[in-house]
Parts: sequence; structure tokens; C-alpha cells
Amino acid sequence: MAALESAIRFEGGLCMAERLAILDCGGQYTKVIDRKVRELGVQSDILPIGASVDQLAGYQAIILSGGPASVYGDNAPQFDPRLFHLGIPMLGLCYGMQLLNKEMGGTVAAGVKTEYGQTEIEVDPDCPLFEGLAPRQQVLMNHGDNVLACAPGFEVMARSGGAVTGIYNRELKLYGVQFHPEVDLTEHGVDMFRNFIRNIAGMKEVYSLEDRVETAIAAIRQQVGDNPVLVLVSGGVDSAVSAALLLRALSPERVYAIHVDHGLMRLGESDRICRELTGLGLVHLERVNAAELFFHSTVNVDGRTLGPLDKTLDPEERRNIIGTLFVNITQQACQKLGLDFDHTYWAQGTLRPDLIESGNPDVSAHASRIKTHHNDVSGVRRAREKGLVVETNRDWHKDEVRKVALMLGLSQEIAMRQPFPGPGLAVRVLCSDGTDTLPGDEQQQLEQALQQESAGLAGQVLPVKTVGIQGDYRSFRYLTVLEPGKAVGLINWGEMARLASALPARLPYTNRVGVVIGGSAQGATLTPTFVTEPNAQLLRCLDEIVTRRLGGGKISQAFAVLLPFGAEQKHSVAVRAFVTNDYMTGRAARVGQEISVQVLEEIAAEIMERFGDDIACVLYDCTDKPPATVEWQ
Ligand code: XMP
Repeated sequence: MAALESAIRFEGGLCMAERLAILDCGGQYTKVIDRKVRELGVQSDILPIGASVDQLAGYQAIILSGGPASVYGDNAPQFDPRLFHLGIPMLGLCYGMQLLNKEMGGTVAAGVKTEYGQTEIEVDPDCPLFEGLAPRQQVLMNHGDNVLACAPGFEVMARSGGAVTGIYNRELKLYGVQFHPEVDLTEHGVDMFRNFIRNIAGMKEVYSLEDRVETAIAAIRQQVGDNPVLVLVSGGVDSAVSAALLLRALSPERVYAIHVDHGLMRLGESDRICRELTGLGLVHLERVNAAELFFHSTVNVDGRTLGPLDKTLDPEERRNIIGTLFVNITQQACQKLGLDFDHTYWAQGTLRPDLIESGNPDVSAHASRIKTHHNDVSGVRRAREKGLVVETNRDWHKDEVRKVALMLGLSQEIAMRQPFPGPGLAVRVLCSDGTDTLPGDEQQQLEQALQQESAGLAGQVLPVKTVGIQGDYRSFRYLTVLEPGKAVGLINWGEMARLASALPARLPYTNRVGVVIGGSAQGATLTPTFVTEPNAQLLRCLDEIVTRRLGGGKISQAFAVLLPFGAEQKHSVAVRAFVTNDYMTGRAARVGQEISVQVLEEIAAEIMERFGDDIACVLYDCTDKPPATVEWQ
């Protein structure tokens, strides 16, 4: 093996020095690894786990991503076992660690300890990966399999309770961790990457954000040539950055911006956005008022007729309807400008996570689809295949786009704006035809769990499903509502945050926990609810109350969600306040920390006072990501 090692190192050798290979095993966070590595000034390439050893030989370090499979599973991705004997420093994450351990002679067991969420672990500060770090670390676990027996020659460097969460072989420079250092919920993940990249692999800093902006501008020029470009501007930082980059790369005369008001924007938003966007230096900006079209028309998606939106229950179908209508509007805009749609370039502010979560095969070979983003529906994919979609930000995450926005001179207001999803309020009206029921004894199981976890606390499981992410897979599970029956200031919020992690880990049918802060969920039944204009209007007003009181501060995103249940055929509303940098993971704002008891009380009181005829109950969503997602759908 030593001969193979030196032969390959010699052959591939120097040209790839200072580059790191990320081997993609299908994890949701593979692109986050790449971005964290680049932040440390190192260039990386994402390659499939099945990449040939010849291809890998010249790299200076390798990181193996997480992935949804089990290492013994039939669906486990194929790879070349010589990979582990190349003599290149390697860090395996989650699935990557299990694979490393198994291939080096250890064993892995399925589902011994299932963990989804932030967990405290003990690490060995003498291990080079944890150099300079405290012996107790908060990390993100998101897995079902565990290392049972450590491979020969490896030592344990981290534990969570009795379970092994980190192994290494100092001499061979092979490291594996069960958790995800690449995400924000691992508090010192960046330090661990730095230790691996600088100290273990000996790599230097050679790559900056300015380089990336220049690369983006050059890429636009190369893709578009002398042609005109349409750009859809939602008002958010992503599309504003796209437009600003286009204006830098091309003559402003050739950039046609379109803002679509689909009737699902927040209160007064489209007016404000159009005012702000003129400040970018756009010569052509058109506002399309398309509420009628979005609520009432049907669309054709891959031969299927979908819609109209105001009669559609399935969230994926609704996302597809909205995404397709955006494409249709772009097509109409081309006609108006006398351009041939099949040969016209159009730009959108797509980010990496959008494509990862949409399960886009170009971005990750094995990632599971969490939900289809409006900018990755099949109409967009077809145009992308023809090379017509210009995605200036597709390699970036939200916090990187914000930095680029400031670098390009965009206003602080645009650069730091809270994200608002392309489909707007449509993803925040949870729909039901009023007939869903729970399939089994979920309610009894919850009561038993609450008896053991938190004696005396009342709770219900509602037959309303929301989207989550657990173990790299999309989950679509029931909502748990806890009703402490106390004023907001008397609720033990630390306990609520704990239960929001403990219950989804324990009960396989739930992924989200809301706590009643106004009205009551008692006697709640389902209320038929669709994305109609009146429901959008109701949510717009509820959302205004939440965002007015929760804008700014340490909260990254705050909004209201309209829910299809309540006593007397009313609705309920959830308040979501979330803290994150990259939106791939994060946590619910903690009451008493990022959000004050008083503000939460005021929100609940104002909602019940002004909308008590329509709203039976106000919830505060205490769930982190994972196991839930930021949005409920
Ligand atoms: P999730 O719900 O996936 O949200 O945890 C992460 C971030 O993405 C936003 N989001 C969307 N943005 N189209 C968008 O343009 C979508 O379909 C969509 N879904 C979620 C969400 O608001 C959060 O900032």
C-alpha cells in the first residue's frame, strides 16, 4: 500500500497543492462544508464519493460529507476503498466518519442512539482537531447510526454520553466526527476546520471574497456575451445582488428587471421594493401585478395540470404552481420586449441551499429533496440545461451574499433584510380540507412522554403536518402543541426549548413543537383552509404585528404562519422567530434571550384583541432546525 501511496502522490502531486477535495456522500450540508473551507481561504472541489483515487491523489486534504444512507445499506453510495490509504489527511463527517471507521476495520450499528439537534459532547483537547477548545462542546448531531467498535489503531477523541462521537489515528492523519462541524449549531465548528486545514493538513490561506466577486462578474460576461438579460427582483438581498452584479458586468441598458407582485407579498412590500430598487441604477424596471393570475390560474408541469392555487392542498404542488407561474411571467415579459424566450438569458438570485433543498442533481448527487424552491421547478431546470439561466449567487450562502451586497455598495437596508421566500405567504398558509385525522395512538404516546418528561404539562398532537429535516431526509410530520395554561411570563421557557428537541427525538411522528401563548388550542378541530385572497390578507395583517415587534435585534427571521385549526371553526397562528447565519441550521429564538417575554405577550395580546373573531389560538414555535425547518412548509 505504501508503494501505491507514494506513486499516486508523486504522479498527481503538486498541481493540486492547496486544494481540498470534498467527497459528497449525499448530505444536506455538503455545500456548507465547501463554503466553510473557502472562508478559511482554501479552494475546494466537490466530487462524488465514487471519484477515482487517481483523481484524488493530488489533493492536500479530503473531507467526507455526511449522507442519508447507512454504511451497510443497499443504497450506500459506491466508492474505491483505496481512498482511505492514499496518505492524504482526511476528516469524515457523520456518514463519512462511519464509512472511515468501517473501512479501517471498525463496526457501525444502526439506530443505537438517534440524535437530531444540538447536543453537548465531551472532546479530548489533546487531540489536534480540538486544539485550543474546551473539553465540552455544543455540536449538531443529525443521525441514526453510531460507531460501535473503533477501528484498530484509532482512538476515541469525543463522546456523547456513552456513545462514540469522534475517532482518530494521529499518525495516519485520519479523523472522523459523528457531528457536523460545518454548521452554525456546532459552536466551534470553524475552529475544528481550522485545526484540520491549517495544523493537520498544513494548508495556507490563498482565496478571498473579492476574488469570488471578480469570478462572478467574469462568469456573467462569459455566459451572456452581448445579449440582453432579464432579472427577476423580489426585493430580497439575493436578487438585488444578482441585479447589481449584472449591472457591473454588462451595460445597464441590457439589464431588464421585473418585480412580480403575486398577491402574496407582505403589507406594503411591493411599493417599498420598487422604490428601493431604483437606487441600484436599473434603467429598466417593470412591476407586474399578478395576484389574479397566481390565485386563480392552472399551470402545466411536466404534462400534469396543477392548480389553481386557491384550491390546492399539497405544499409541493403549490410550490410548483408558483415557480411555473414565475417562468410564464418571464416568458410574457420576453414577448413584450420582442425577445425570443427560448434564446433569452434570465437571471435569478438562487442560492446554494435552494438547490440543495430542492434535491437538484447538479448540486448534490445523493441529496434528498426537502422541498422544491420556486427557482428550481422543471421549467427553470429546462432553461438551465440550455445555459440560459444566469445564477450569479448559486455558489453562495445567505451570509456570503450579504457580505457581497455590502461590498457592491448596496444599502444596509437591502443587504441585511430578513429573507422572505419567493412563494411569499403561500408557504405560510397551512392548508387542510378539514378531514385529516391522526392515524393511531399518537395522542396517548404524547401524553405518556409528557408524563415522563414534564409531569402535568398538557399537550396535543394535531393532524396538521409540517416540513422538517431529520437525518438528512425531509420529514413531513404532525405538529405537537403544548399548553402550559399560564401567562407568557410564567412559562418555563428553558423547559419548552428542551421539550422541542426531546419530543421529536422520542416520538417518530412529530417534528415541530408550538407552545400556546394566547387563546387556547383546547377543543380545536380542523378548519378548511386554502391559499385564498382573504386568507392571504388575514395573514398579512397577523404578520405585520409579528414583524413590527420583532424586526431587527438578534433575530435573523421573524414571521407569522396561519394554521388550519381552532375551536368554533376559527384559525390559529404561529409566531416564528429564528436565529441563524446560513439558514441551513439554526434555532428558535429563545424567550428571555433573543426575544423578551414582554414582546411575546404584546404580540399575543394584540393578535387576540384585533383578530379574536378569526383566531382561536396563538403559538410560539420553539423548534430548532433540525428537526424542523425555518418555514413550516
Ligand atoms: P427552511 O424553511 O428551508 O428555510 O429552513 C431556510 C430559508 O429559506 C427560505 N425559504 C425559501 N425561500 N423559496 C425561497 O425563496 C422557497 O421556497 C423557500 N423556502 C424556504 C426561508 O424563508 C429561510 O430563510
